[in-house]
Formats: sequence, C-alpha cells, structure tokens
Amino acid sequence: MTLPVPPKSAASAPLRGLNATEALTPLIESIYTSPDITCYVNGKRTIISNPNPHWTLLDYIRAQPDLKGTKLGCGEGGCGACTVVLQVGDRRNEKRRIQHLAVNACLFPLVGIDGKHVITVEGIGNVDRPHPLQERIAKLHGSQCGFCTPGIVMSLYAVVRNSYNPETKKFHLSAHEVEMEGHLDGNLCRCTGYKPILNAAKTFVTEDLKGQLAEEDEPTTADAEKFAKEVVDFIKTSSAGQSKVSCGRPGGCCRDRPSRSGSSSCDSESAPSSPPTEPSSTSDDEHIPAIVDVEKEPQADSDLIGADYAKPMKSKEHSADAETKASTTLAAPAAPSERGVPRIEFQEYVPDAELIFPPALWKYEPQPLCYGNDKKIWFRPTKLEHLVELKDAYPSAKLVGGASEVQVEVRFKNSDFAVSVYVSDIADLKHTILPSDADLENAKELVVAANTPLTELEAICKGVYAKLGKRAMVLEALRKQLRYFAGRQIRNVASLAGNIATASPISDANPVLIAAGATLEAVNKQDGSVDLPMSKFFLAYRTTALPADAAITRIHIPIPAKDTREVLKAYKQARRKDDDIAIVTAAFRIRLDAQDCVEDASIVYGGMAPTTKESPKTQAAILGKPWFHSETLDAALGGLLEDYNLPYEVPGGMADYRKTLTLSVFFRFWHESGVELGLGHVDEQVVDEIHRSISSGTRDDYNPYEQRVVGKQVVHLSALKQCTGEAEYIDDMPRLDRELFGGLVMSSKAHANIISVDWEPALAMPGVVGYIDKNSIPADVNVWGSIKKDELFFANGKILSHGQVIGMVYADTALEAQAAARAVKVEYEVLKPILTIDEAIAANSFFPHGKNLRKGLAIDDKMDEAFAQCERIFEGTTRMGGQEHFYLETNAALSIPSGEDGAVEVWSSTQNTMETQEFVSSVLGVPSNRINCRVKRMGGGFGGKESRSVPFAVYTAIAARKEKRPVRIMLNRDEDMLLSGQRHPFQARWKVGVSNEGKLLALKADVYNNGGFSQDMSGAVMDRCLTHLDNSYECPNVFLRANVCRTNIHSNTAYRGFGAPQGMYFAETIMYNIAEGLGMDIDSLRQKNLYNIGQHTPFFQRIDEDWHVPMLLHQLSKSSDYEKRKSAVQSFNKTNHWKKRGIALIPCKFGLSFATALHLNQAAAYIKIYADGSVLLHHGGTEMGQGLYTKMCQIAAQELGTPLDSIYTQDSQTYQIANASPTAASSGSDLNGMAVKNACDQINERLAPYREKLGPDAKLKELAHAAYIDRVNLAANGFWKMPKVGYTWGDTNWETVKPMYYYWTQGAAASEVELDLLTGDHTVLRSDIMMDVGNSINPAIDYGQIEGAFIQGQGLFTIEETLWHTASGQLFTKGPGTYKIPGFSDIPQIFNASMLRTDNNGKPLSWNHLRSVQSSKGIGEPPLFLGSTVFFALREAVKAAREMNGATTVPGEWNFDSPSTCERLRLAVGDDLIKRAATVKKKGEMPFLTAVA
Ligand SMILES: Cc1cc2nc3c(=O)[nH]c(=O)nc-3n(C[C@H](O)[C@H](O)[C@H](O)COP(=O)(O)OP(=O)(O)OC[C@H]3O[C@@H](n4cnc5c(N)ncnc54)[C@H](O)[C@@H]3O)c2cc1C
Ligand code: FES
Ligand code: FES
Repeated sequence: MTLPVPPKSAASAPLRGLNATEALTPLIESIYTSPDITCYVNGKRTIISNPNPHWTLLDYIRAQPDLKGTKLGCGEGGCGACTVVLQVGDRRNEKRRIQHLAVNACLFPLVGIDGKHVITVEGIGNVDRPHPLQERIAKLHGSQCGFCTPGIVMSLYAVVRNSYNPETKKFHLSAHEVEMEGHLDGNLCRCTGYKPILNAAKTFVTEDLKGQLAEEDEPTTADAEKFAKEVVDFIKTSSAGQSKVSCGRPGGCCRDRPSRSGSSSCDSESAPSSPPTEPSSTSDDEHIPAIVDVEKEPQADSDLIGADYAKPMKSKEHSADAETKASTTLAAPAAPSERGVPRIEFQEYVPDAELIFPPALWKYEPQPLCYGNDKKIWFRPTKLEHLVELKDAYPSAKLVGGASEVQVEVRFKNSDFAVSVYVSDIADLKHTILPSDADLENAKELVVAANTPLTELEAICKGVYAKLGKRAMVLEALRKQLRYFAGRQIRNVASLAGNIATASPISDANPVLIAAGATLEAVNKQDGSVDLPMSKFFLAYRTTALPADAAITRIHIPIPAKDTREVLKAYKQARRKDDDIAIVTAAFRIRLDAQDCVEDASIVYGGMAPTTKESPKTQAAILGKPWFHSETLDAALGGLLEDYNLPYEVPGGMADYRKTLTLSVFFRFWHESGVELGLGHVDEQVVDEIHRSISSGTRDDYNPYEQRVVGKQVVHLSALKQCTGEAEYIDDMPRLDRELFGGLVMSSKAHANIISVDWEPALAMPGVVGYIDKNSIPADVNVWGSIKKDELFFANGKILSHGQVIGMVYADTALEAQAAARAVKVEYEVLKPILTIDEAIAANSFFPHGKNLRKGLAIDDKMDEAFAQCERIFEGTTRMGGQEHFYLETNAALSIPSGEDGAVEVWSSTQNTMETQEFVSSVLGVPSNRINCRVKRMGGGFGGKESRSVPFAVYTAIAARKEKRPVRIMLNRDEDMLLSGQRHPFQARWKVGVSNEGKLLALKADVYNNGGFSQDMSGAVMDRCLTHLDNSYECPNVFLRANVCRTNIHSNTAYRGFGAPQGMYFAETIMYNIAEGLGMDIDSLRQKNLYNIGQHTPFFQRIDEDWHVPMLLHQLSKSSDYEKRKSAVQSFNKTNHWKKRGIALIPCKFGLSFATALHLNQAAAYIKIYADGSVLLHHGGTEMGQGLYTKMCQIAAQELGTPLDSIYTQDSQTYQIANASPTAASSGSDLNGMAVKNACDQINERLAPYREKLGPDAKLKELAHAAYIDRVNLAANGFWKMPKVGYTWGDTNWETVKPMYYYWTQGAAASEVELDLLTGDHTVLRSDIMMDVGNSINPAIDYGQIEGAFIQGQGLFTIEETLWHTASGQLFTKGPGTYKIPGFSDIPQIFNASMLRTDNNGKPLSWNHLRSVQSSKGIGEPPLFLGSTVFFALREAVKAAREMNGATTVPGEWNFDSPSTCERLRLAVGDDLIKRAATVKKKGEMPFLTAVA
C-alpha cells in the first residue's frame, strides 16, 4: 500500500514555514496510514482505495458503470437530482439507531462515506421488481422527463425508511411531518407540477389508520383527517368499480383485504414487494445479496403495460397467450371497473423487507484516513486531538463539515483547497450530548457540538423547547431558521460550525446566535480551548476572529433564567420560501425590566451589511424605553434607517426592498413580542407568517371518450425506468473506447473585442488532448441560426454576450476538460453592453423584422379615427420578464466518428434532429446522409433545446472528426444558463379605446422583445405574441407593431408558449386597466368582449364552431365556486389590514401549428411490422417527458388493432426519419400522430385481405406472418402535412387569407391568493384549471402537461426572475442558488384540474370536426399562460392594499409588472414603511442588478 504524497506547496505562504509535504508527511506515516474508504454501496461491501481526491460522492457514483441513476442537475445542492441515501448506524447508546439521510451527492465529500452504507436509486429496486415508491410514482404519473425522479425517489425513500421503528414494528408518517420537516424541499421538478409526486408520497401516510394497522401516537388533527380522507378518496376514485384494491400503505390496507395474493396483507407469508434482505447474522465481510432477484420471472403489471418494452422482450411475451393477455388487459380490464376510469393497484409496502444496515458496519471502527496526490489530499481524522495536531502542523488545511459551502467554492469559485480535512466523523464534533432532564431544567446554556448535522440540531431545539417552554425561545427561533435553511439534503449533513465559519452576511443561524449572546469554543494546540463571543467574531466580509490553526468545537447558546422577561424571535425573507438563501434575515432579543422598559436588546440583521451585524443606533434608541409604546417603535424604525442606510447601488441590489424588510420584520417582532410578554392585544395577522401545507387537489379522471387503447390513462412508457434509474440520458450512455470530454472556453465579458487567446496553459494540463476554436473550421461554416444564420459557433474577434463560446478544450475526463478550459487565458478590450429593451430602443438597436398586424381602420392607417370613436382611452407600458427553461438535464451531446466516409453518429439532447444534422454536416463538410442525429429522451426541453442545443453537438463533432475519437459534452448548469437563452422578456407600449360600457373599440401597441445578441427564433416568437395579444377578446380596430431588440444578453429562444403567454399577458393587463379605469367588474368586462363564433382575429382567422372559451369560463366559474369566493375575498380584504387576498378567473386561447413557418407543419413516421407481430415505430418527434412516445405507441396500437406493448420506439433519428420538424409548438402529437396513422392506414390496407381471411380476431402476429409469406411489404412510411393553414403576413383580405392556426386549444383557470403585506410573501390558496383538450389521447399525460405547464406559468409570473449585473452585463442568475423555480410547497394549496367534456347543459361534446389525430388537441404549451391567474390574483391583492393605504390605483399612474416577486409585491403595497425606507437615487447611479424587459 503506497501512502499518498501531500502537495509540495499547497498554500502560497505556509503559516509555519513548512510546506505541505514537510508538515504532513510525518502525520501520514504515523497516524493516517490508511488510504482506503470502506463502505457499502447498495448492499455490497466496497473498498475504494486512494480515489481521485477531486471526486465528490457523485463523481464516484457516476464513474460506476451500473450506477447512472443518480443525476447531476446543478452541482450546487440546489435541485436534488443527485440525492442518495446514507444509511448510518448510531452506536451512541445501547439502542442502536439506524438513520437514513438523504444527501446531495454532488456536494458530499467522498471521504464522508467511510463506514456508511450508500443507497442509490438502483439499490432499492429495478423495473422487474420496483420498490413500492418507484412503482407508485410511476403509476401515479409522477415522472415525465424523469431526470429529477431518482433524486425524488431517494428523498422519499429516506422519509419512508425513517418512519419505521423496527423495534416496535410501527410505521408512522403524517402529512404534517412531511411538510414541517421539509423532506422534499431540496428537490425540484420542472415537468410535473409536483401534484402526482405528492399523491405518491401520500400513499405512505398512515395517520388515518387510527391504530388498525399502525397505532397512532398522536390524536388525529382536523387537517390530518381531511388529508387522510383525500388519500382514501384518491385511491377509491382511481379504482372505481373495484372493491379489492390495495392502497398499498405500509402494513397493508385494512379496507381491501384479502389481498390479491389471496392472503391477508398482514400475513407474513404474503410476498413482499420489496427485495429480499440479508439475514441479520451476516458476517463482517459478507456481500449483502443484490436486492434484485434477476432469476425471478418479472411480474406482469397491467397498469404499467408497455413500460418494459424498451428492453429485450421476455420469453413470455413471445407466446401467443401473452399477447392475448396483454390485449385483454387493455381492451377490458381484468377486474370489473367502470369504463373510462383508470384502475390503480399498488404493491403492498412491507417495511420489514427493506434493505438492512450491513451488520459488518456495526463492528467497523473508523480509522484515520488519508488519500490523494501531489495536487490535492484528503485527511479524515477520527479524534479531536488528531485534528488539532493536523491543524498545528499545517494551519492552511481546509476543514470540511457537510461541504455545502466548501464544495460550492471548489466548483464555482475555483478554490483549490489542496489539503482538506473531513471533520464530521469526529465524535466530539458531531455529537451533541444533551443534559439529563433534571439538569436541563436549570441549564443556563445549551452546548452544541460544532458539526452536529443541522437536522439533528433542529430536532434537539424542538425537543428542548418542548421541555423548557418559552425560556428556550432562542432554540425555537433557531429551529424556525433551520426549517427554512437550504434543502433537507443539505441540512442532513451541514453544520452550525460550517455556517458560522463561512461568515456569510446572509447566514440564517448567525443572527440568532449573536442575538442570543452565544459563544464559540475553539481549540488549537498552542492555546488549548479558547472562547470567542459571537458578537465579536465577524471582522469583515467572510473574515472571522478564528485563529487559522483552530477548529470550532462547541457553540454555547445561553438560555435565560426562568423568570427573565425576554423574547427572542427570528425572521427570514427569501425569494422562495423553501430552500433559498435570505434577502434579509434577522433575530431580535429584548429583555424588559419590571416596568416593561427595555433593559437589554440585541437587534441583529443579515443581508444588510458585509457581515451579520448588530444595530447599534437602534439598540441605543430603545434602551430604557417603554417597549410596547408606539414612540419606542418609531424610534427603533428611525434607528434602523440610520443603521442600514443602503445606497441605491448597493451590492446585491434591492436597496428599497431590503430597507423596507428591515423595518417590516422589526415591526412584526414588536407586535409579536408584545403578545408574548402580555403587553397588549394585537391583530394576529401582523404576527402570522404565510404558511403552506401540503397541496391537495383533484383530477377529473373519468374519460367518456376512452377507446380500446387511445383515451386510456396509460402510464408514460419510460416511467418505471425513470423511477428506477434505468432510463438512459446522454451522459448515462456507457463510456466508449478512447472517449474524450469537452470543456467550453466562454467569454467572461458581455461586450468586448478579443485581443488574444492563449490556450497553451490548458494544453499543458493533465489529461488534455486538444483544443478547437474558430480556426478549426472554415470561416464560412462557422455560422448557424434557425431562421437567419447570424450567430458564430466560435467567437471571432468580437464578444457579443457573456458566456459566448470562444473554444473548446477536450481531455480524458470531464473534470480535466473543465479545469483546462478555465486555464485558457483571454484578453479583452471591454465595450459597453446594451442590456435592456429601453437601452436598445434608445440606441436604435433592432434586428430587421418589420411585421405588424392591422385590422379594421388600421388597414388604411386610420387608427386616429378609430380612437376618435372611443369614449375612454387608456395608455400604458407593460413589461414582462423572461424565464430560464431550467430543464433538469442540461444540454449534452456525444459524437462518434465512424472511421468511414466521414460519417458521424451524433447523440444529442435535442428537440431538433434535423437542424442538428444540418449543422454538423455543414461544419464537417459532408452531406447530411452521413450524419445520424439520434435522441432517445431528454431530461426536459421546453423549447430550450429546439435550436440552442445545436452548437454542442457541433463542437463534439468537430473534435471527434479531428481526433478520430468519440467526444462527449454535458454542460454545467451555469454554462447551460449562460448559453441556452431564455424566454424573451417583452415590453408593450399600448393604447386602448373603449366605449363607456367597456366594449373594446381600438387597440394600438408597439411590442418589443429582447432578442439578445443573435436572432435565433426571436422574430417568430414575436409573431406568436402579436397573434395572441387578443387572447379571447374581439376588437374591431387593431394595430400591433413588432420590434425585435438586439442586445448583449444571451440569445433568447423558444420557450413553451413561444410568445403567446406574453401576448395574452398584455391583453389581460390591458383588460385590468380598462376595468379599473371604468370602475367596472373585470369579469363582466371580459364577458362583454369575448369573441363570438364568426368573428375574426386581428389576423382574420374566423372564430369557428370549436369556440369553447365562454363554456369553459361558465363551467369553471361554477365548479370553482368563483362568484361566492370572489365576494368572500372582498369581505376578507375589508377586515384584514396585514394580509390581502385576490382572485382571478382568466381564459386562454392558444393557436396550434407552426404559425409562421408553414413548411414545419409536416411529419413522417416509419412503421415496420416483423413477422412475429412486433412493431417498430419511428417518427420525427422527440421525447422530452411530454409523453409523445407513449401517445404515438397508443395511436399505432389502436390503429393496428394490437396490444400497446407490441409497439416499440427506441429513439428518434435522422437515419430513420428525414427532415423531421422540431418537436415544438405543441404540435408533436398532431403532426407525428397523423403521420403514424397514415403509416398504419397503409399497412392496414395491405393487411385487409388477411384480416378477411383469418377473421376479425386474428392477431397481428398471424396477419403479419401470413402477409410476409405472401411477400407483402410490412414497412410503411407515413406522412402528413397540416391542411388549411398558410397565413401570409400583410394579407388583409379576410375572405381569402388562409388561417394561421389549425385550431385553438382553449382553457380557463381561477386562482385565489393570500399576500403578506409586510414581507411580500404569498401563497396560492387554490387554483382550478379546466382545459379543452378535445378527445384526449391519454388523459393522464395531458393532465401532467396541464398541471406542469400551469406551475411553470406560475413560476414565470411570480418567483422566477432573471437578472444581470448592470455594470458588467454578466448574467447574475445562473444557477438554482439565484434563480428560483417553484418547489413542492409553492404549488396551490388546493389544485384542481379538469377537462371540458360537455356543453353547459351536460350534453357530451364532439370534436369530430377537428380533423386532428383522434380529434385530440395539442396541450403542451396552452395551459402555461393560465399560471398568470396567480399573478393577476396577486395584482388584485396588491390593489386592495393600495386602496387601503390611499395609494393610487388609477390606470397609468401605477404599474405592476411581471414577475410578481416578493420584492415587487412588497414595494407595491404603498404603505408608510416603504415611504420611510425609500432610497434616493443620486444622479448617474445605476441599480446593481438589472431586469432586461
Ligand atoms: C444550496 C444551498 C443552500 C444553502 N442555504 C442556506 C441557507 O438557507 N441559509 C444559510 O445560512 N446557509 C445556507 N447555505 C450555506 C451552507 O449550507 C451553510 O453555511 C452550512 O451551514 C455550512 O455547513 P457545512 O458543514 O456544510 O460547512 P462546510 O462547507 O463543510 O464548511 C464551511 C466552512 O466552515 C469551516 N468549518 C467547518 N467545520 C468547522 C469547524 N469545526 N471549525 C472551524 N471551521 C469549520 C470550513 O473550513 C469552511 O470554511 C446553503 C448552501 C447551499 C449549497
Ligand atoms: S445536482 Fe446535486 S443538488 Fe443539483
Ligand atoms: S419529471 Fe421532474 S424534471 Fe422532468
């Protein structure tokens, strides 16, 4: 065994004069003699000897060929895609305890797994034998693109495992626990809208079992009862008609026994769904058996039928019987069930059958570890004295606790930390020892071990507070901060010491600790133990008083004596309530004397200065004053403004908001403390913060239009593979021989001239093979673009946007390539960037576009006449921000050169195989027929991979050709956010004229979008915006002008909705302005202006018989009880001063087709039937989670009269389908579905004679075989082009002009919100959405699209805000840390979705006139806009607040732009605190951050 060699000069100036080798070698030789990490991985004993010291746990896991389920989504702990579970044995007391900790593998140091059991998604089940969690998420449609799914499965797995007590054999899990402990707050999903995942989680909740199977420890609360009923109802509805359906909860379900095995589900004999586990007598080094018994015959599962068809067929599927069985399952459910209602049955969850903690680990004694190389070295001491020795020998060694801060610095700030020391396995540091109850009673402090995991600390605080009550208020305040501190995965391993030592000004714990008067205990060799008061610990930005050679060992948190009249509270405000760093965070402590005067005070803020800071002026202003007196409050507020007088340009921005929050949270505290101390009565609503419980809601699951296959709620065909981690994305594909990885060299400037590029330093780095840039391809092919070729693959002399690609380094590993890319030196001459639409207008910086829409008098340029006819005219400027796609899988590509004829196989995470093929062919100088572009699935696309995925495929192809080796790339999250563009920010300068009754008469608008530095699809996005600016309203005279701004931000691109949400948003804003101007009810105004059949849009498309918006509004209004709730909102607002509610019911009409690119409205499909009756299907569409493959297989199965699981689609590729249109514009199902149908029609025609001959019941296998023998072609190429459409811009002849859209997908939604006026926090109390989807091909998939799009829209219009650093033009929001998409708790508290089925009289509707496939409608994009109901409801709440505060609500005098972030909401309230906090902008000052709309 060779011991690792420490880096020679790790620190530039070693503190004690010795370099790392000299200082550390003696310790390595004497103490740290083992370089081996000993652990278990999925039940298998594993020794990792001297691993790569740069690896995180995720790097190690993903380097294993069979462990690709754990994903890299962000690398910074912000998405949860990398979640794995650490099974840890706690030997502290006699009762051995096993904990299951969900952790972010992307941050967790590999060294930390020594002595632990790592469980990844592969370890708990597979497609043949899924874990009940995996099965339920799949069956309940909780996985769409699937990239987030393994991480979510593992977070839930930890919850489920921790809910079982093996000693008492009790399983207990309540909804309250899931919410309160934030088990899911560290996981993001961009596709599903979370509802189906929560439904799956709820099937494990046992709180309603009331002792029948799992005894209740606590009384069932009203909430719990409601929740429990919902679970039962949910299962019941889902299983209507079936009396014996297991709801699958732990221990079995009492309602439906005997179980399907015929025995009681309590019966120990019954086959567990979980894998067999090791007997407890396993010897130390025994290998725990693999959890999957591959020998066993997989279970047939009708609900997941087809799901396993992407793997080789099983023998049973070859038999004729099997076909009959599968066919029967789809045609007529085996058990009697009401037609049109899906039947869901779960395997029982048997906690005892879970993977056990390896007995060998109980006996494992962790030893000091050390591994690494001469660049980086890791130490893992197990005793405090070893750590002290180490720090003494080499003070620059970096201590690492949970690594949640350190690893972010390594990854994003290029920090090296050549000597790292993992301290969280030192018992003295990780275990907080609580005093006995008796000692606790009189305790003056709680002593917390420095590296106690935060989740454990949360539990300790909760426990001690429960025992000591208000005396331990400081612990309750700390617990409250910890609940909303990072995500659960981080809290499970991160420490208080780590938080304190980081000295972040926005730390959530530090204000509480300072306010409480906490003291740190630190230890070093020279001084032994030293005390450091927290109040003096922070010296400057991220600088502390901790000696370099010391480690924090304990934190002493004072607990006041029993009768002290003291209150301590903490507050935090962030962009998103869960898992977000604070904008302002605070803790306040006051102690009163007997006269209720302030005896002592500590008023501490984070986020208001470079360090966490006490407020000297405020404290002085209140000392000795009567606390609960308004003058004291006033003096305190005045003091705060002096303490925190932020300038307009303050780093971090938001000066007004941060100052207002400073006052607001103090104001809240003043009231809250008054109540606590019994000083008087206050309005509870000043004190109450917004709280969200777990969302619930319904789907209308009955589908009267269900056919044999089409119309059924078939589970996404990849769902189970996604839930088990078997689904392969590009970066999961097995490594190829001699494969290389690309690392991009990107511009750090937004606008500049390149003076020089020096790539030599990169080439000298380990593993680096080469570099490509503009010189690697001919200049004339260094250009691309979807519509206009105006963008360079590699920058050539000029930089037009932050992040623009200059070159690509390629190396043996991704880490090496990325490190080398950072070593390329680029010199710039910096130029001033144009960022915003306003700046572009001022600089006349536009792309040529020039399209406009004219209707009525506008055609003859007579808009003045039109306005002259109007009784009232309103004008305004409305803005709307962009949106980051935030698909969970970043862009990835893999190019494999064939070695012959210049052919290359290009795997790409793209929605656009044709364009990828075209540009790879162009740069390589070979015809398209040599380039096979393939895509199996994407981890989300949403338009972001329609064009902007192309360059990455091109870069890998160039390098692959050059080196004759496969080259792969997968972007880091920040790279992806810089390069892939976003939804366009928009601005409209509008003027509208109406009659006194509110009839729309004239509308004129100049519409601008921010295209970024190249055109991409900005023009087409603008066109769709203009053609949706009417939403659902008729206006006789319309003049809309389009302007596409050229700026120095990334090139904006397609994003779900493609300009339509922006157009409809403008329409609705205008409607609100009219209603407010006329003093009219907004809903009456809408009704008055809704289109009628026969009227025409501004582009002269006739509103035809398929017009259902009035019906949708009527039915949704009724089903959501809208009118009644609207009055209730008004009453609420009259009586509440600190919270306001708002409600909005809004329609949407969305045009289907590629509107301005007629040629894209075509599709092809290729069907081959093999002689055994199995069918191979290819079509031009790509699968990005939207369920296209599932729908296409359903159509083929329906048309060919064969079971769904005999149809197989492996991938989409240009060698099978030529000239495929991008999968976009919600037209994937329409176009490809019709092409599939066309191919089936051709084959059916050829098979007709055999059907006649062999009879109507003949199976496809028999037909195919007979036809084959007769030499009939069993392959068919289907094709379809959309008829009817073909609008020509500028054609104003409404009688002859062709329609722009094939049909409209329509919908309506109603949302009700509650807004906290003091902070700008809000919650969505309820949303109801109803969509007209025609005859849905697969309602489950369509519901997934509806709910997912709604939540994406909600994010767009509320919390998602893209910001740029004003001075440099750099993108500021380039990761989940700064850019917030909705999480589990952000979705509506009640979230109901339904589909339009009947007219207002209950008569079934028919969509037969549609001529779309199966009379269905495209649904991917349309519901997204309806997320704006949340925005408009918030606008109503703000308006109510403004009215209360006497602020103007007159149109034109106030603006409320999208997104409605907490900052915008708070600043719009119009109260005195805002006025007091307002910052005066000095001449020439610029905001620190800029939104570019
Ligand atoms: C996605 C994400 C979300 C986050 N959200 C929040 C949030 O909401 N609120 C918040 O306040 N913070 C947040 N953080 C920051 C971070 O998680 C916390 O600061 C955490 O407490 C750090 O603990 P750790 O054990 O992981 O520290 P590490 O990363 O291991 O170490 C951090 C620093 O502490 C030092 N250190 C660790 N242990 C000791 C010791 N015993 N003695 C001396 N020095 C020591 C290390 O040397 C290092 O300098 C977030 C981080 C991420 C990545
Ligand atoms: S990849 Fe680890 S949290 Fe996102
Ligand atoms: S299914 Fe969750 S991100 Fe796609």
